[in-house]
Amino acid sequence: MQALEAADPSLRTPDSPTARIGAEPGAQFAKHEHLVPMLSLANATSDAELAEWEQYEVRGHIGDAVDADGYSTELKIDGAAIALTYRDRRLVLAATRGNGFIGEDVTANVRTIRDVPAELVGDDVPPLCEIRGEVYMEYAGFEAMNAERVRAGEPVFANPRNSAAGSLRQIDPAATAARPLRFFGYAITIPAGASALPVATQTALLDALARWGVPVAPERQHCRTLAEVHAWAATVEHEVRARIPFAIDGLVVKVNALRLQEELGTQGASRKPRWAVARKFAPDIGETRLRDIRVNVGRTGALNPFAVLEPVELGGATVKLATLHNAAYIRDRDLRVGDVVQVVRAGDVIPKVLGPVATKRDGTERVWEMPSHCPACGTAAVQDEDDALSYCLNARCPGRRLEAMVHFASRDAMDIRGLSYARIAQLVEAALIEDVADLYRLQAADLEPLERMGAKSAANLEAALLASKGQPLSRLLFGLNIRHVGAGVAELLARRFGTLEALLAASEADIAAVRGIGDVIARAVRQWADDPGAQTVVEKLRAAGVRMDEPARAQADGPLSGKTVVLTGTLPTLTRGEATERLESAGATVTSSVSKKTSFVVAGEDAGSKLEKARTLGVEVIDEAELLRRLGDAP
Ligand code: IVH
Repeated sequence: MQALEAADPSLRTPDSPTARIGAEPGAQFAKHEHLVPMLSLANATSDAELAEWEQYEVRGHIGDAVDADGYSTELKIDGAAIALTYRDRRLVLAATRGNGFIGEDVTANVRTIRDVPAELVGDDVPPLCEIRGEVYMEYAGFEAMNAERVRAGEPVFANPRNSAAGSLRQIDPAATAARPLRFFGYAITIPAGASALPVATQTALLDALARWGVPVAPERQHCRTLAEVHAWAATVEHEVRARIPFAIDGLVVKVNALRLQEELGTQGASRKPRWAVARKFAPDIGETRLRDIRVNVGRTGALNPFAVLEPVELGGATVKLATLHNAAYIRDRDLRVGDVVQVVRAGDVIPKVLGPVATKRDGTERVWEMPSHCPACGTAAVQDEDDALSYCLNARCPGRRLEAMVHFASRDAMDIRGLSYARIAQLVEAALIEDVADLYRLQAADLEPLERMGAKSAANLEAALLASKGQPLSRLLFGLNIRHVGAGVAELLARRFGTLEALLAASEADIAAVRGIGDVIARAVRQWADDPGAQTVVEKLRAAGVRMDEPARAQADGPLSGKTVVLTGTLPTLTRGEATERLESAGATVTSSVSKKTSFVVAGEDAGSKLEKARTLGVEVIDEAELLRRLGDAP
């Protein structure tokens, strides 16, 4: 290939494999050269710095022209920047920012993010345009993912930004799909000479994005004057920030008129735009004393250490407790009881101890050790080699059971409305329930006599329990507290096996063969399925009439039911996502590699090794027109 490219340089493309030679090992993604560089912003950390920016960078160059349209003020989303190329309204490429000039082609991964439209809608979408924005995670998704990582013995992500960036760079798109990624758009870039933008201001640009079907961040403001920007920044920092479900690290203030943005251009060597600035907020970091480290037993039996702090004001709340994840987290930071520690809290994120302030030690601090026994039931704890956690293995441990039942009832699991932590503790206390299946034996008459319960709440709870019986298998699996099975894994398992019966009958190897599921998870699922205690609970749930299958996304009696199909190359009209969706709803299973079991391969332009393999194995190869015919499209 190198020789070919040397002989005819026009063959060399930015994503050529030869361009990757010499790159750092593990570079898995093709490089993508941005048509227009992705710049970073200058910062202003106070109103005074913001005023300075306006004075020198804006008015210094364009004078009072800025007063006509003012400023667009947007949330600065704390995620990973992404550039999406749309050709004839269809998403054809997604690239990370990289060094600003060359990023990585992460198209396959980005196609799994539901917020990113595969196709734009509207008459004024330019034929070729790049939409830029931020891939991010909501706090809830981020916390859930970290909790899963703790359980899997993997290092936790420090913040939603790192987890978003890391998730985009998964080798297997199925792994990206299992992460709760979201997207907001904030810019439209058109390559020089391609066409004109259909709008004249940034505020109108955001409106256009929203019209085209691109999610735009909430709480955007058109400010006429800098004074309005100052006031809005204070409101966002002190009020808005606390109520939005994702992390921001400030506001981006942009000169609103696009004509003026162009005129202002970039600042000398730094190449930062003059027309925009990041008005950053101070992070909510504080110092306080670590009074004690205590341990809580989690729903899977993991012993989770947490910090008891001298109360400290952070981000508008008093923080007294903070998570410490596991023993390794404490060891790695050399945290000692009695240390002065740095604590951070942003928005809804659970407060976190960053580390000790070692210079403030006086020698009275003491090194902490994981207790050798479960704090709830006193059973000797077991250290797990491969995931760095200590476990209480007593299936009857009251602490574990309580947590497990709380999880079962939680919103993302069986979603049993009105069944709070306190309520479950009360039911356990009254000896009305011992495991999750007992919940379904409860009747309004049993509940009514309880304290703080009345007839109305008892009836409501009974109705909520009944409704939860119809939850799909994916939620049931998530709710059952199987080690390493978070919401994403539960969904993969439910989709692959369809019924709980099929999953229970599957071998460890069958489970490990599911895309996105590895050996550790497969072993844990198999171990759970073999556990007599788990089997009893499953039987009780079945007897209570709890649903044990996943509503089929694929139509069992569709025109292609039972067929296994592989897509390769670029199809003339359908995107890969659309083709997959149409195939699945016709009953077919879409897989990524060709084998003798493949029913047929749909090949488009630039089909490569999969097409070759299909030919070698004698598997039928069809084109898009034939696929559409088989899907029932005329003629
Ligand atoms: S505009 C030329 N708007 O902040 C500047 N950026 O340092 C183009 N960001 O990596 C950026 N929210 O990914 C812009 N509403 C917003 C943003 C935003 C987050 C990120 C962006 C970039 C960084 C700028």
